[in-house]
This record gives sequence, C-alpha cells and structure tokens, in this order.
Amino acid sequence: MTHDHTSTVRSVTPQDFEIERVRADFPVLHQEVHGRPLVYLDNGATTQKPSSVIEALERYYYMDNANVHRGIHELSERATRSYEATRDKVRAFLNARDTREIVFVRGTTEAINLVANSYGRGHLQEGDEILITGMEHHSNIVPWQLLCEQTGVKLAVVPINDNGELILDEFERRLTDRTRLVGVVHVSNALGTINPIKTLVRLAHDAGAVVLVDGAQAVAHIQVDVCDLDCDFYAFSSHKLYGPTGVGVLYGKQELLESMPPYQGGGEMIEEVTFERTTYNRLPYKFEAGTPNIAGVVGFGAAIDYVKQQGLGAISAHERSVLQYATHRVREIDGLRIIGTAGLKCSILSFIMDGIHPSDIGTLLDQLGIAVRTGHHCAMPVMQRYGIPGTARASFGMYNTRDEVDTFISGVIQAKSMLRGT
Ligand code: ALA
Repeated sequence: MTHDHTSTVRSVTPQDFEIERVRADFPVLHQEVHGRPLVYLDNGATTQKPSSVIEALERYYYMDNANVHRGIHELSERATRSYEATRDKVRAFLNARDTREIVFVRGTTEAINLVANSYGRGHLQEGDEILITGMEHHSNIVPWQLLCEQTGVKLAVVPINDNGELILDEFERRLTDRTRLVGVVHVSNALGTINPIKTLVRLAHDAGAVVLVDGAQAVAHIQVDVCDLDCDFYAFSSHKLYGPTGVGVLYGKQELLESMPPYQGGGEMIEEVTFERTTYNRLPYKFEAGTPNIAGVVGFGAAIDYVKQQGLGAISAHERSVLQYATHRVREIDGLRIIGTAGLKCSILSFIMDGIHPSDIGTLLDQLGIAVRTGHHCAMPVMQRYGIPGTARASFGMYNTRDEVDTFISGVIQAKSMLRGT
C-alpha cells in the first residue's frame, strides 16, 4: 500500500501537546456520568466543543443575529462578515484555491447528496459506472444507489482485505473506461484505515473519472490539502472538527462546480427570477439555497481557529500515541479481536469480544462513565465483510489521555468478567 496520505511534516512529539490545558478548554469533559468521571471516547460520532466555539455561538445570538447577504444594516453586515470569514478559514484549512470552491451544507451527508444529485444527474448516464469501496459509510453508498436507480448507472465496489485495507490491484481492475466517478472515504469510521487518496486520485484521473472524498473522519486528525490530493470533491462536517452540528462543507474544483446545475432551488441561489425563466447566482451561492445555518457557520469558524491554534501536527502526534497505547493495551485482553488493523490508521479502535454482544459492552462501559459507540457504525457492508453484527468502537480526539485509555481497558476487562463470568 502506498502511504501517500497528506500528513504533517513538522516533527512534533506528544510531549509538545499540553493536554491538561486543552482539556480545560472543553467544559463538557469535566463532569461525572453515573457517578464516575466522564471518559468520552465517541469522537467518531461527534467531538466536544471548546469554550471558544460555545462563546462564538452565544456572541452571535447575543449581538449579531441577522440574515446574511440580504441587508444593508449593521447586524446583517456583521453576520455576513463572520459567515464569509469562516468560508475563507475553510479555504485556508483545506488549502483550496478560492472561496468559490467552498460550499456550506448541513454536513458530509448533504455534501455527497449534492454531488450525486447535481453532478451525477448532469454528467452521468446509463452505461456509466461509479466506483466506491467496501469500507464506505452509508452516506457514501446510498446516494449513489439512488442515482443508479434513477439513471441506470452501475455501482461497482472495491473489496478490502482482512486488515481493512483497500486492495489496490482490485481498485485498478475495477476502474474501467466506463468509470465516471470514484467515491472513497479518507478515513474509515468503522476501521480507522487511512486510504492512499493521492494514489487513488491519480489512478482515477488517468482513467478519466472524477473523485469525491468523504473526509468526515479525517479532517480532525490529519492535515488535508485538496490541491496536493488533487481530488475533485471533498466533503466533511463541522461537528467532527470540534464545531457545531448542522454545518458541513463541500469543496469542489471550481470548473466542476461551474458545470453543475443547482441542487436545491430557493432564495439566495438565484440571480434573477421571472415566471418564464430563472438565472442562477454565482459560486458558491448557487448551491446555498435558503437561509443557511449562520450561527453554526460562525461557530465553525471558531472551531477552525481552535484547531489551528493547537496545530494539527501536534494533535495528530498526540492522537497517534494514544491510539498506539490503546491498541497495545487491548491486545492484552484475552478473547478480544481488533477489527481494522491497517498499517496506516488514525483515531479509531473497533473491536469485538468472543461470546459478547458489542452493545452489552457499550452499556456496561456507560455505567462506568465511559462513552463508546457500538453497532454497525452506519457501515453495514464492513460488518458483512467480517461476518459480525457490529463492533464496540473507541474513537479518540485531541483531549483524550492515556489515563482515560487505562480506565477504558479496566472497564472492558470488568465488562468481560461480568458478561462471561471469567
Ligand atoms: N458516522 C458517525 C460515526 O461513525 C456518526 O459514529
């Protein structure tokens, strides 16, 4: 496997990261759950928010609330300035060329649906193929299935190996002159695998296909540079990057976004409307019909500032050390099997235990104040691949510590002995 993911080059040691200072910035972490200190290990589902994000939301509603792009009054100008400032922060965060390439949506799911509906219907037709992988989240499967049902386009899937890595030869074999679009996850939410996006993009482009990357589980953990990756679309959500829920981003190359019809009709996305004919607004507003989640976008801007302040290099190094430690410690537990053992992983530790249902582990851990996710993680085909109903999943964020890993390990051992009597 080619390890070409865009990652930080700055050499940062975990010691550089002042974990207690970081933890102090997240009010929600400092509470007891069922009489125990909260250990929050469900960052793959959503991350907690630093005070600066909560304060930005509050400030916006206390002081600046108004609609964007519509008023000439002071409040509307302030709201518009903050909203557009976040767009530029996202552009810089992804190293995109232009703010016209940054479309605000509700989340990763909506971003992918936008591409499926707009690019898919505009550019794909019967006989064409879409290629996805065996480790996709449902949100990078179902929108393509819907498109296929409506257009006669075919969906092909690249299998994964037992470690949860994409089989590159199979990718190349399934990439044909009929493949028009490749949809691939950057980091698998069920397995933690980091995919070699740059290689996949190069191969797809050589075959004449465009590439959409689902970056939901990547952006908070590894540095993403869309110019370097050369992907055509990149989708992610604010809430997995320490920002508010209900906001996400679709990055798209300008010439592609220009070539696509609007996704939804309404206010804001138009230039001129008559009953006979409507012309559409310029990018990115063509894709932002209706009043957006302004407060969410403003809070998202504060989240990006926060992440940049900590430094993704330092965050990655810290999380890598926590994941390595957790992986090493769970291996001590007899009867526990890690699902997802790729050579290149981040932030996610999925596992099953002989004779115990994952949801029972999750329920017992919750009683100990430890939050993990259990189930199929909206990636049922991954579970089918391994022949399991689901996994228990610990997913780490910048504020997790080795002490928390120790508490988690003790919890798993306790759960095991209660459930199996061993
Ligand atoms: N897709 C999110 C997860 O993996 C919700 O938990």
